[in-house]
Amino acid sequence: MQFNNHSIKNFNTFGIDAEVSIFFSYNDDDELISFLKKDFRKDLPFFILGGGSNILFTKNFQGTIIHPETKGIQIVEETKDFVLVNAAAGELWDDFVQWTVDHGFYGAENLSFIPGCVGASPVQNIGAYGSEAKDIIHEVHCISIDDQSLKTLSNEECNFDYRDSIFKHELAGKYIVSSVTYKLKKEASFNLNYGSLKNVIDEKTATLQKVRDGIISVRKEKLPDPKEIGSAGSFFKNPIIPSAQAELLKQKFPNIVTYPAKNETTKIAAGWLIDSLGFKGFEIGGAKVHEKQALVLTNKGNATGEDVVSLAKHIQSKVLEQYEIFIEPEVIYL
Ligand code: EPU
Repeated sequence: MQFNNHSIKNFNTFGIDAEVSIFFSYNDDDELISFLKKDFRKDLPFFILGGGSNILFTKNFQGTIIHPETKGIQIVEETKDFVLVNAAAGELWDDFVQWTVDHGFYGAENLSFIPGCVGASPVQNIGAYGSEAKDIIHEVHCISIDDQSLKTLSNEECNFDYRDSIFKHELAGKYIVSSVTYKLKKEASFNLNYGSLKNVIDEKTATLQKVRDGIISVRKEKLPDPKEIGSAGSFFKNPIIPSAQAELLKQKFPNIVTYPAKNETTKIAAGWLIDSLGFKGFEIGGAKVHEKQALVLTNKGNATGEDVVSLAKHIQSKVLEQYEIFIEPEVIYL
């Protein structure tokens, strides 16, 4: 289905009201292929919008938004230990997680209640509570925008990293994810090492549903429900800096929260950096730093994209001034 000059307010979790020139949504991949062949305006910019949970519309978008609404989750292969499950790009991510929990398959439960769609899970390599989508992605099925050919990428070929993949680099703007096949375990195996989880979930009596419920309660405590308060979850990525620099920071700021990362680097909790500067509850225009989690910027109700950008820039400059660290948005600006 195609609409012109369409409001995007209900398609981004920030709840920013902006207009897009062309909005195309589809329920099956053939519809997408036919659109790409016949109606797609190659002269305009375009963007593939899943659940709109990681995007900031800074102004009206003079281009095409492609929005998958394809559905379907099925088991495609099963062994004694594993199951391969294919899910369509337009499935809501959390519906997929609930499906895995209902079917007794292990691996997706820590990623409960993350807003967005299945199609975004490999692009962004979504992650929470010590798990990332890359840990369970088996392969990603895509459609070429250029010639509509089908391509399947293995997990290794996706070059996954922290909130990063090949779909943000070499393949950006070239392919649309049509479905993702996940490899899930049939034997109980939980990952409950992440800080606050231990206080909420008892490992001895853990079940998939209990872990899911525990994660949901932890998330609800800190993160705003997009149905009530507009936001895009974490606004900034946790910066990764050389470990030597992190050591110097630790001496100066003993409370700084850090995590070891690869190759002599250290990940810093951006939420802590922002919080330490007293930003919780700070507002610019209609944009506000969430009171319970400083990494999250929210829409008080009538924020414009520009309000959010101003708030983000202000925070970035203050963090840079104090800690000499540049915090990069996780959210994509359009
Ligand atoms: N912290 C503060 N003040 C704050 C926020 C955090 O001091 O206002 C401290 C916390 O006390 C904690 C540390 O910073 O020691 C980290 O905070 P938290 O555990 O809340 O996690 P995070 O690093 O802020 C990341 C992900 C979230 C994910 C959580 C849980 C990123 C950018 N964010 O947040 O992902 O849910 O871990 O695993 O990696 C998202 O990407 O949208 C998202 C919500």
